[in-house]
Amino acid sequence: MATHPGGLKTPEAPTDNTVRIEHLVRTLGDRNILDGLELSIAPGEFVALLGRSGSGKSTLLRALARLDHDVAGSGELAAPDDVSVVFQDARLLPWKRLLDNVVLGLSGPDAVERGRTALAEVGLEGRERAWPVELSGGEQQRVSLARSLVREPRLLLADEPFGALDALTRIRMHTLLRKLCERHRPAVLLVTHDVDEAIALADRVAVLEEGRIAVDIPVELPAPRRHDSPAYAELRDRLLARLGVELTQEDLR
Ligand SMILES: Nc1ncnc2c1ncn2[C@@H]1O[C@H](COP(=O)(O)OP(=O)(O)O)[C@@H](O)[C@H]1O
Ligand SMILES: [Mg+2]
Repeated sequence: MATHPGGLKTPEAPTDNTVRIEHLVRTLGDRNILDGLELSIAPGEFVALLGRSGSGKSTLLRALARLDHDVAGSGELAAPDDVSVVFQDARLLPWKRLLDNVVLGLSGPDAVERGRTALAEVGLEGRERAWPVELSGGEQQRVSLARSLVREPRLLLADEPFGALDALTRIRMHTLLRKLCERHRPAVLLVTHDVDEAIALADRVAVLEEGRIAVDIPVELPAPRRHDSPAYAELRDRLLARLGVELTQEDLR
């Protein structure tokens, strides 16, 4: 085991690419935001993470992305080296064309060709030479997905990636993300505050509460996951209740 800044221990030997977090503690200010958190994600598994605002979802994601070296804490964390992160804002470089944004930092003789393929996969074929400013928010987020997936990550971390998009665009992005994940099979940790998004996409839904995973439920609904099925409604109510949202008859009308 090697100890890294941020107090994390990580195994020296290569792992089987399973994400394994054991007794993770992250302290910000004088609070343990994460407090003995345990979580595993198998290769290719899609986990959605719900939790109230401020519960520590982004803190967990940053620990997994190893972006929190200045955070005090302890615990063990095994994760693949090839990790990509998607944030709520696409974070494209405005002075670079789309294809250049996608292949930024990518090496190898076929980098440009892979970038083209990735752009085509997210439905932006022919837009390689466009500037980010010419794109809608949804299109920019597609580029951000292409930039992540062109690296063929074994772990994709996404922090409320569709939170700023309108409802229709968000549904289209769900379909796209599901297809991309079926094709590339990364393990995924998707942070979202949207219970329906979690159920629509994930193999498992976890809820973060008081620094730990309080609930971890496999989603065993047949595809397509219909909103009007009793099993869907039951899972949705269970998760909402856990998040502290009690629905009244008026909400359900
Ligand atoms: N640098 C910091 N110093 C002190 N507290 C922080 C700092 N950064 C975040 N926090 C607090 O940590 C908690 C968890 O934040 P975060 O992981 O961003 O939550 P979430 O993503 O679930 O909304 C919040 O209460 C936030 O106010
Ligand atoms: Mg957050």
